[in-house]
Amino acid sequence: MGSQTLVFLVFALAVVAVECNSEGDDLFAWKTKLVDPNNVLQSWDPTLYNPCTWFHITCNSNNRVVRVDLGNAGLSGPLVPQLGNLTYLQYLQVYANKLSGTIPREIGKLRKLISLDLYNNQLSGSIPATLGNLKSLNYMRLNSNNLSGKIPAQVILLIQWGNLRIMNVSDNQFAGSMHPHGNTTGRAVTTIIQDAKA
Ligand SMILES: *[C@@H]1O[C@H](CO)[C@@H](O)[C@H](O)[C@H]1NC(C)=O
Ligand SMILES: *[C@@H]1O[C@H](CO)[C@@H](O)[C@H](O)[C@H]1NC(C)=O
Ligand SMILES: *[C@@H]1O[C@H](CO)[C@@H](O)[C@H](O)[C@H]1NC(C)=O
Ligand SMILES: *[C@@H]1O[C@H](CO)[C@@H](O)[C@H](O)[C@H]1NC(C)=O
Repeated sequence: MGSQTLVFLVFALAVVAVECNSEGDDLFAWKTKLVDPNNVLQSWDPTLYNPCTWFHITCNSNNRVVRVDLGNAGLSGPLVPQLGNLTYLQYLQVYANKLSGTIPREIGKLRKLISLDLYNNQLSGSIPATLGNLKSLNYMRLNSNNLSGKIPAQVILLIQWGNLRIMNVSDNQFAGSMHPHGNTTGRAVTTIIQDAKA
């Protein structure tokens, strides 16, 4: 094998490696923004081939990230737009931390998301209308944050046309009052849209 071929091969492998770890890069971009007093993200090493061996991350058989499990982890800092690049993500479990800032509109790109659990944090701003794209979503628990504004109609429609079964938005700063225990579909859904603080 000529040295040119070898150089090409090494280059091609490098490209493949970089592409394969783009999800690692997205997660690492998040880590750099977080304060992590308990070092729960210590294993998040971006030089590894993919993030599948990192603690609190689960991948599918194709090494794509399907779960992020960081509930009760003592984290503070924001959610980042890069999370929207985790195309195969099904569970985003980041409840009971001290996350602040807004919910990135890019979360609406996570078309396979089943569970969005961000309750018990300090998130503010409004719920992005893009979350109405999350047709696979079963659970949306945003309760006990500092969210405000109106709940977008697109998100409410997920109850009727999507798979949303539990939506808890209570204990936030939403404007106006909402329908508690809405049962809009006639399906056996448990939907909790409780009154905001009056
Ligand atoms: C990931 O997301 C960010 C922000 O949405 C974007 O700028 C970036 O290009 C994305 N990276 C990849 C590898 O898709
Ligand atoms: C909904 O959120 C409130 C406030 O955080 C909580 O007290 C309640 O237990 C939650 N209900 C369900 C069914 O998760
Ligand atoms: C909650 O949001 C309001 C604005 O909507 C802001 O004034 C207040 O400081 C926030 N509180 C916390 C604890 O982040
Ligand atoms: C929703 O409404 C339907 C019919 O109106 C009823 O059969 C069903 O039990 C209700 N589900 C809940 C959880 O209340």
